Amino acid sequence: MPSVLIAPSLLAADFAHLSSDLERVTAAGADWLHLDILDGQFVDNISFGPGIVQTIRGLTSLPLDVHLMIERADHYVPRFIEAGANSITVHVEPEAKHEIGRTLRAIREGGCRAGLTLNPETPFAFVEPHLPNIDLLLIMTVHPGFGGQSFRPEMMEKVRRAQDLRSSLGMHYALEVDGGITAETARACIESGADVIVAGTAIFKTNDYAAAIRALRGEEPAPTKS
Ligand code: DX5
Ligand code: ZN
Repeated sequence: MPSVLIAPSLLAADFAHLSSDLERVTAAGADWLHLDILDGQFVDNISFGPGIVQTIRGLTSLPLDVHLMIERADHYVPRFIEAGANSITVHVEPEAKHEIGRTLRAIREGGCRAGLTLNPETPFAFVEPHLPNIDLLLIMTVHPGFGGQSFRPEMMEKVRRAQDLRSSLGMHYALEVDGGITAETARACIESGADVIVAGTAIFKTNDYAAAIRALRGEEPAPTKS
């Protein structure tokens, strides 16, 4: 089991050849698949819903890490559980319009890992009360909605805080980072305490997914872009 898990974000995959992209990224050593659900309300972009998650479930046995950037996640969570998610992460911001404690409980009761996340602009204090009730804390390193944005290094302060609290309070949530992650920025994340790295562009926009994944783990230099 590698010490850092790599979760390729399918937002950057080739949807015309999704099945072969899934095979390639699996053979390349992906640990989880990160599925970004965008509703055009909570974020300014639209991706896909539970139907496509279910299709992906039928194409892979890798854990499906579903990141809900949507309003009223509580209403949609059962459909993503049914579709085959293994972890479901919801947003803490009031604009996400749900009762966070209740949504997290519903995710766990559905047999999934319960994740919580916050936008770069959102203070870390928003997630603190929920830390004992989550399995996964996702620190956004870009404002969500689009792949290919620039990493925000100042978010490492939140990663370090999450790591400090986790060890001082004996909590067990996995610490995940998402947005603008390259081999170089992954190193900062790992040094700050991250154990799951989400990356779209840095994997799917290269010619060699295996080399890209090894580079994200810090094992070799990044391959050239395709
Ligand atoms: C941002 C999504 C990310 C994004 C990552 O809206 O949550 O998962 O697709 O893509 P890259 O790695 O290209 O920044
Ligand atoms: Zn994401």
